[in-house]
Amino acid sequence: MSLLQPEFEEGTILDIGGSKLPSTLKALVCKFIFPKDTSETPLLPSALMWDDTGLNLFRQITRNPTYNLMADELSLIKENLGVIADSVKDASTIIDLGSGDFRKLRLLLSALSQAGKRITYYAVDLSRDSLQDNLAQFAKQGYPPTTKGYGLWGTFNDAHSWLSRFPRGEGPRYFCSLGSQLGNDYFPETVRIWRQWATLLNSNGRGEGDKGDRFLVGLDATSDRTRLWASYHGDDAEGYNSLFEKYIRNGFSHSNKVLGVPWYKHGDWDIDGEIVEEPYTMHRFVLTARTDVEIRVPPGGLGGDKGESQQGLHQGDPLVKKFTKGDRIHCYEAFKYGPEVVLRQFEEAGYDLLSRWSTADGTWREKPPIRKPFHKYQYC
Ligand SMILES: C[S@@+](CC[C@H](N)C(=O)[O-])C[C@H]1O[C@@H](n2cnc3c(N)ncnc32)[C@H](O)[C@@H]1O
Repeated sequence: MSLLQPEFEEGTILDIGGSKLPSTLKALVCKFIFPKDTSETPLLPSALMWDDTGLNLFRQITRNPTYNLMADELSLIKENLGVIADSVKDASTIIDLGSGDFRKLRLLLSALSQAGKRITYYAVDLSRDSLQDNLAQFAKQGYPPTTKGYGLWGTFNDAHSWLSRFPRGEGPRYFCSLGSQLGNDYFPETVRIWRQWATLLNSNGRGEGDKGDRFLVGLDATSDRTRLWASYHGDDAEGYNSLFEKYIRNGFSHSNKVLGVPWYKHGDWDIDGEIVEEPYTMHRFVLTARTDVEIRVPPGGLGGDKGESQQGLHQGDPLVKKFTKGDRIHCYEAFKYGPEVVLRQFEEAGYDLLSRWSTADGTWREKPPIRKPFHKYQYC
């Protein structure tokens, strides 16, 4: 079996873990809402943001002029499309991690098919509907039959284990992490994640005619406070201070479904943002309890290694978290590492930087193609 000629029909969406998402997400939420170290502020993992409503809201956010991240990255890709496409070898397998709405990869795949390159494209996403939309758009593009598209439904971790089992094709693998998907975490965790992905990359690929695997990485490096704040707080939504607030609150409502307990009620929580500047710039949302709130998750259903260790409890105990007025929950931590720090992360993870581009004001950086011999947590 070859990645270039997989034995499933073109357009297939493979369930690589997607049907287990309810338990995967439940375990993830429990891990961060009930942290083992009770001095840590609980966190709602970002993976909770991507239900159907969240995806729709995010689509609206990315079309909003104050959310400059999408527009900046798109223009950077357009400006450098020729060089990026040249860096993708014929017969490559492109793996698009968190494919979202396909706006960026569509550009690359068009350039590659115009250049006559044979490409196998895998979109990876938590959302089956989003994959279906992507592949429907893919089918409409009129790519030549040598450009084939598939969906992998599941988490990044699911994709990693699937790809480590699935035999490689004849050509290189070209991973894409656009929209600050990977590399958006505390420094040590970021390095750990890049190292984990590096295990899937071959290491013999430098120079002309090489078979080396690559990573195309898009990272937001906005450090200007005004611009950063406007990205997350700059637009209106009926009944909310901003569209982003609506999106974040939807993630919390989603956690009610995931945990099976209606612990979160909008009126119980104030929401605000904060920019943390030390040791690195990061924006996050903070929910603050307006009243006492309790979360009590009945025992069971957490599976595997996920549930047993929370607060040292046994499987038979309920998970309980009591918030008193003024207690906080963090959410949607968005790291804005500068180029020097990112370089250090890649070096520590064992990658070579082959080229990089940034927007004129230096806020958005693409780091393609990166070759492998590229506080924590909420990754799944
Ligand atoms: C911010 S969008 C980015 C889309 C696209 N890469 C871009 O740059 O425009 C995030 C997408 O990644 C998916 N996603 C988020 N976390 C994920 C995870 N842990 N595993 C798989 N997909 C994930 C979401 O469902 C969503 O479609």
